Amino acid sequence: MSEKKIALITGANRGIGFETARQLGQQGITVLLGARDAEKGKAAAETLRAEGIDAEFVRLDVDDAATRAAARKQIEEKYGRLDILINNAGVMLDERENGAIQPPSRTSAEVFRRTFETNFFNVVALTQEFLPLVKKAAAGRIVFLSSILGSLALHADPASPIYDFKVPAYDISKTALNGYVVHLAHELRETPVKVNAAHPGSVLTEMNAYGELTVEEGAKTSVDLATLSPRGYNGKLIHLGQELPW
Ligand SMILES: NC(=O)c1ccc[n+]([C@@H]2O[C@H](COP(=O)([O-])OP(=O)(O)OC[C@H]3O[C@@H](n4cnc5c(N)ncnc54)[C@H](OP(=O)(O)O)[C@@H]3O)[C@@H](O)[C@H]2O)c1
Repeated sequence: MSEKKIALITGANRGIGFETARQLGQQGITVLLGARDAEKGKAAAETLRAEGIDAEFVRLDVDDAATRAAARKQIEEKYGRLDILINNAGVMLDERENGAIQPPSRTSAEVFRRTFETNFFNVVALTQEFLPLVKKAAAGRIVFLSSILGSLALHADPASPIYDFKVPAYDISKTALNGYVVHLAHELRETPVKVNAAHPGSVLTEMNAYGELTVEEGAKTSVDLATLSPRGYNGKLIHLGQELPW
């Protein structure tokens, strides 16, 4: 078995996921770049290899059970374990109406369903697929890319910076994900595995044209949570070392 740590990052062909793979790779970790599009995934891994990083493309469409199972089998056969799982892939599918995001009274059940498929149900399925491999690592780490926008405490607080920034299907899918993080962290609390949610910040990517942070800054929280010491957090929502309320 390889001595180097092995990390799988979903949605790693661009944005925060790609940069997370780069920063983990710079620490000497073998990075497996999950991507649903083979051409984009191969190109991303090739870019990192050219920088001296041990990077490999893994075909992985979070919404496709067959690719989830095939990716698990591929990693199990080659490495026998998974030290770090970063559930990074996500979508924001809320529609706009005259430039503004549709309010919850008009967000369709279909948009909620499609958003929850990728941001919640299939993240749960993927995590369950890989958990046996994470448990085989000496100190497994699971990071879920959540968002401050999933925080009900902050959405309900008129003094919070997100009070007037509501993207219903996206936000509530991340709230559900936060619930899963708390429950899974509780289940695994007596094991070496640590489970946490990351808020990367408002990061300039294809998902967020108004982002204020660079992807370099945005990837930091995921990298920190992926490389936590045995005394580090478990079951928390973290942004750059600060705990956020659920
Ligand atoms: N940017 C922000 O300000 C911000 C703030 C808070 C939280 N987040 C969270 O951080 C994560 C990364 O966001 P980002 O800003 O880097 O977004 P992004 O640039 O839009 O990248 C999203 C990535 O997810 C992939 N993806 C989407 N659906 C997928 C699926 N079914 N299977 C596999 N991959 C899939 C995309 O692949 P394709 O290229 O194939 O589409 C892409 O690689 C997301 O979970 C997001 O919710 C972002």
